Amino acid sequence: MVIKRKFSEHYHIMPNRTKNQLNNYFTFLKKQPKGFVYVENELPIKTPDTPCSKQPRLDELKKQCHNCQACPLASQGRSQVVFGRGWAEAQLMFIGEGPGRDEDRLGKPFVGRAGQLLSKIIAAMELDEDNVYITNVVKCRPPNNRAPLPQESGTCKDLLLFKEIDIIQPKVICALGSTAIKALLGDHLAISKVRGQFLDFRGYPLLPTYHPAYLLRNPAEKRTVWEDMKKVLAKLAE
Ligand code: URA
Repeated sequence: MVIKRKFSEHYHIMPNRTKNQLNNYFTFLKKQPKGFVYVENELPIKTPDTPCSKQPRLDELKKQCHNCQACPLASQGRSQVVFGRGWAEAQLMFIGEGPGRDEDRLGKPFVGRAGQLLSKIIAAMELDEDNVYITNVVKCRPPNNRAPLPQESGTCKDLLLFKEIDIIQPKVICALGSTAIKALLGDHLAISKVRGQFLDFRGYPLLPTYHPAYLLRNPAEKRTVWEDMKKVLAKLAE
């Protein structure tokens, strides 16, 4: 069996790891079954001097949409446009549905309860939230947190989401929940049929999984999502 562990687990690039965390890590390595192979994963890690050639294009896109009026959501109570967050050079991109109340207030995607759960999932993957990119199909809050209408998601994905993807060019996309799956892959796809399998989205490997808001209502499915995240990690390490 080959288990791929990520490079950032290594203390010399995570100087703030405590002695305890390191001890736990070495204990983990020692406990692995016979045949375990430790493979350093070469996922790029954001550091203050990592060159970031994609950021200016992302900034430009964000600037263009800050007062977007392209769909009805512009006049349905949004307080601001909520653009994606994270690293422009990320290899992993999470795509959710649309901002909720907290996201609309704070101007960042996935910062409410569902966002906190997504942060826990990312931490459990032993990834750093600063090294991934997190965005939504629609960038404005739908009233009463309803799902975006086809016209809204259609407009927003053409104007923004597809451009974000093409700038970042992630190695793996993880679509969170039904709205993201339908927006990216087509209305005919039911999450129950496609969850957990890699599909092709314009040449990008895309893994559909449950939305963290669904997991808050159905905590038993966290295990399923964890299995999906292991597939994401394996794909990143390929
Ligand atoms: N749900 C989403 O799909 N996106 C967010 O940003 C927050 C909750």
